[in-house]
Amino acid sequence: MNSKLIAPSVLAADFANLQRDLEMINNSEADWFHIDIMDGVFVPNISFGMPVLKAIAKHAKKTIDVHLMIVDPDRYIKEFADLGANILTVHYEACPHLHRTLQAIKAEGMKAGVAINPHTNVDLLKDVIKDIDLVCVMSVNPGFGGQSFIEHTYNKVQRLKEIIIANNADTLIEIDGGVTDKNAARLVEAGADVLVAGSHVFKAKNQIETIKGLKNIANS
Ligand code: DX5
Ligand code: ZN
Repeated sequence: MNSKLIAPSVLAADFANLQRDLEMINNSEADWFHIDIMDGVFVPNISFGMPVLKAIAKHAKKTIDVHLMIVDPDRYIKEFADLGANILTVHYEACPHLHRTLQAIKAEGMKAGVAINPHTNVDLLKDVIKDIDLVCVMSVNPGFGGQSFIEHTYNKVQRLKEIIIANNADTLIEIDGGVTDKNAARLVEAGADVLVAGSHVFKAKNQIETIKGLKNIANS
């Protein structure tokens, strides 16, 4: 059974050929579109905003997984729902009232995700784990594609999986940053359900085959 999911990160696509790259994802074994929104405040980089997401949503035929690396995300929850986001992930570090934010995301009909930076301990999510549909474990410091995977991630994923099981929650674990065919198997073994991959997919000569390769590794 193919239960582990692959989410190519559109941040690594060729923006001058965005439709071509979106169609590639549509035609591949990928499960989700991972969309990174950066505001230049929460992270030291600006990616793209609403008009680009709107254009992506027009062509994307799979689940749209939006990763917000922005301060005060509550301001935009409704807008992201209207634009077609299926999953909306906010950063733990950007949300002083995380429980409220999660409820607001769900009230707009989206799945609610929480991303945690490499320095954030997964135990901090214990009290809200049943309210979280997806935890995005950052395996690089957010802000840029193409960075090296942080090895400590495996331990975090294992601990997070324990918390999910202990609380009888059905939260998915997503890994974001530096994912390749070299670390995918160990990540899944540690408890990962969704692998985000940007440069590994888009730098490959054969992107469709690279996605298929990751999917096979994750589900073998
Ligand atoms: C980083 C983003 C990631 C990034 C992953 O801040 O959240 O989604 O696009 O890119 P790679 O796979 O190249 O590390
Ligand atoms: Zn991301």
